[in-house]
Amino acid sequence: MRGAGYIAALAVGAGLLLGGPLQAQDGPKSVWDGVYTEAQAERGLAAYAQHCNACHGGDLAGTGEAKPLAGPEFLSGWNGLSLGELFDRTRTSMPIQAPASLDRAVYADILAYVLKFNGFPAGQAELAQKSEFLAGIRIDAQKPQASAADAFAHDAAVVGAENRPSPYAQLASFFQLLPDRTMGSSSSVGVDSKGHIWIVDRCAANSCAGSKLDPILEFGADGAFIKAFGGGMFNFPHGLFIDRHDHLWMVDNRAAGGKGAQVFEFDQSGKLLRTLGKAGVSAAGPDSFAEPNAVLVAPNGTIFVADGHTGGKDPARIVKFDAKGGFVKAWGVRGAEPGQLEVPHALAMDSKGRLFVADRWNNRISIFDQNGKFLDAWSQFGRPSGVFIDKHDMIYVADSESRAPEGYGHHPGWKRGIRIGNARTGQVTGFIPDGEANPDKQATSGAEGIAADGRGSIYGAQVLEKAVVRYVKRP
Ligand code: HEC
Repeated sequence: MRGAGYIAALAVGAGLLLGGPLQAQDGPKSVWDGVYTEAQAERGLAAYAQHCNACHGGDLAGTGEAKPLAGPEFLSGWNGLSLGELFDRTRTSMPIQAPASLDRAVYADILAYVLKFNGFPAGQAELAQKSEFLAGIRIDAQKPQASAADAFAHDAAVVGAENRPSPYAQLASFFQLLPDRTMGSSSSVGVDSKGHIWIVDRCAANSCAGSKLDPILEFGADGAFIKAFGGGMFNFPHGLFIDRHDHLWMVDNRAAGGKGAQVFEFDQSGKLLRTLGKAGVSAAGPDSFAEPNAVLVAPNGTIFVADGHTGGKDPARIVKFDAKGGFVKAWGVRGAEPGQLEVPHALAMDSKGRLFVADRWNNRISIFDQNGKFLDAWSQFGRPSGVFIDKHDMIYVADSESRAPEGYGHHPGWKRGIRIGNARTGQVTGFIPDGEANPDKQATSGAEGIAADGRGSIYGAQVLEKAVVRYVKRP
């Protein structure tokens, strides 16, 4: 879905390059040049609340006949037109019951707020009230970029979602472990049909090797500890999936000491029902895994395993098994081309049965049908470590690694945190920022594993912080 926008952004980028030095002296040319100030947008927010909010809504999403003033529909409608046209259109027709009733300066302030809400950057000078001046500023939905890699989808809609307040509040210490046990690093969390939350931690540390602690932890919907099992069975718990029978599917990523590199299916009592892969053997075969990351069971019982945790090293593959566990096929060529994979870190499936792969090293989600046919790649959700899709096809993506410096996690301009959106359209609608003040200092922070209950709670499983955090939707 990003293809056309990508080409458009490239074309804009090329145009800017050609006209570069001249335009820089000419003053702002597009809404990306910082054409309003933060203070002006603040005033605009107050004026908007008074004069526009009733019809266009506090989230600028529009109500009834009143159109949205933010998001893809608004941006594509105005893309390529000028701020002068938007200003005149607004001033001469809005508020609908009293057009042109406000001061020109107030319309300019409101326009500044609309620009901010849509993710366009603030600058040093206020937005002028003169239509002639505004006529010279183009509305570009896509950010013009010199580099093709950066142009790939970090567009206004995504930045807009990142700039809005988080739609979720973080709850402090929700899960109550027994007094003698602390939470370890975790990338595995899931919610079962009863609303119980299951966490697999790395045995109060960042590894279970040599530990006797039980890493599979069950909590009630109120966060109270219920039970634990799995002591001594794993090296490095990595992925958890809860199927429609409420069975727990667990992945041990590392082979060592005669265990690991396996997928496990448990019932809720802790009984081991079956395993896939060869205990302690790291090999990318039809019945063995190299470094398995994640497992997913489709509604019909088909099993998918994502294999390969190390960038620059084979495999980077998806292995498909039938409901009985028989090998069907494997796909995935390691690389960065569309349809190739590098570190397939997590799996999710939407209601259409499309398989979403957190293609972490490629800073994108790669989407396949269940036979391995490549369908699409989405980079608007950041660098994904975790991905979860709820029953309403809302998608939740955890970016725990984006960093500016060259090297591991290189993804300049992208913030770490949880992006929420629509798995059908690919639209990003909300963002929960990671609290880490200096993300460039370390490879990971914040949620790696992610799950949602589809009723307003999100759970983020964190490796660095050794915690699982519950977020609750704001009313
Ligand atoms: C009483 C309801 C009402 C109020 C108040 C109102 N609007 Fe509107 N607005 C509408 C309706 C209905 C439309 C769609 C019909 C039209 O385009 O004229 C609309 C359309 C618009 C459009 C065109 C959107 C597009 O993409 O075509 C803009 C811009 C706009 N309004 C801005 C504002 C601003 C800014 C304010 C506050 C100063 C405001 N409106 C107040 C009802 C309202």
